[in-house]
Amino acid sequence: MRSIALLFCVGLLLTAGIWVSMGDGFVGKTLAQKADDQKMPEVIVLGKDAKLGQVTFSHAKHNGGTYSITPGSPIACISCHHTAQPAAEIAKHAPLKTAWPADRATSLTAELFAKDAKAAGVAGCRECHARTGEKPKLLDAIPEIKHEGSPALITLNNMTALHRTCAGCHGEVRKTVPTSKGPIQTQCTMCHKKTA
Ligand code: HEC
Ligand code: HEC
Ligand code: HEC
Ligand code: HEC
Repeated sequence: MRSIALLFCVGLLLTAGIWVSMGDGFVGKTLAQKADDQKMPEVIVLGKDAKLGQVTFSHAKHNGGTYSITPGSPIACISCHHTAQPAAEIAKHAPLKTAWPADRATSLTAELFAKDAKAAGVAGCRECHARTGEKPKLLDAIPEIKHEGSPALITLNNMTALHRTCAGCHGEVRKTVPTSKGPIQTQCTMCHKKTA
């Protein structure tokens, strides 16, 4: 699993334009070319707009098995890329319900991505979880969610979506592994670093 992941970490993180341009109606060669170019990122710099500083995220360590929540197995792609599963599968994990592409029949795995990156259907988080005030590229509006037992409507902009995913998992891990190095929500500057 790990070696497969590493094999595809050939560098270049493409900007989030690939699927968007498909939606915008690019045709023929451009479309095929762009989807074929999508690579497994190794390290991603997130949050370039954050006043506290950008966030350097090791995609390779998080999906290749170096970091793990279940001893011996890598973190599943879909624990972060939650829309990359068939709708029927997602429905088991309410309040999640949205699949992208909507009619997809597969769940994202390293194998699926290696075999056919285009069919794997990976979209960047910010293509849906846009910054407040910006319209997401793949949705009409920034997603909102309600959890069972609470009337609160949570708007999932880029900050809230990523904080919940990243710090949410680290918080869960801390409960059983108190020495874990994954930064929890209050440890802002363990994730956000100002560049020199
Ligand atoms: C586990 C890592 C992590 C921790 C801990 C964390 N953040 Fe973030 N933060 C992120 C990521 C990732 C993003 C999303 C960046 C993006 O949109 O690409 C983000 C986004 C943000 C944004 C939005 C930036 C923008 O305008 O687009 C703000 C503001 C922010 N964080 C503040 C904080 C504060 C304050 C804390 C501490 C209370 C904190 N963060 C803790 C990872 C973290
Ligand atoms: C195609 C659009 C799309 C993409 C891509 C996407 N999301 Fe979401 N996300 C949504 C929608 C819509 C919801 C609201 C629930 C639903 O409809 O499934 C949501 C909900 C969430 C939630 C709330 C879950 C909960 O139980 O409270 C988190 C956290 C989240 N997304 C993080 C991410 C992260 C991290 C990424 C990238 C790795 C990502 N999302 C990519 C559309 C998307
Ligand atoms: C711990 C969370 C996490 C896991 C696990 C994870 N990813 Fe990601 N992945 C991300 C984030 C965050 C991004 C950056 C998205 C963005 O730029 O908005 C990303 C980006 C990507 C991209 C680039 C998308 C683009 O815009 O070009 C690909 C391809 C990808 N992931 C594939 C995978 C595959 C395949 C797996 C499983 C083997 C996986 N990811 C596991 C969080 C994760
Ligand atoms: C499903 C669980 C999970 C998710 C989701 C997750 N992480 Fe982690 N993260 C871990 C684990 C496990 C470690 C390793 C802790 C250790 O070895 O002590 C870790 C470690 C880290 C570290 C410290 C080590 C390093 O690489 O610098 C940072 C920073 C980090 N994660 C950032 C992020 C960001 C940013 C996101 C969201 C884009 C994220 N993580 C999402 C589980 C997760």
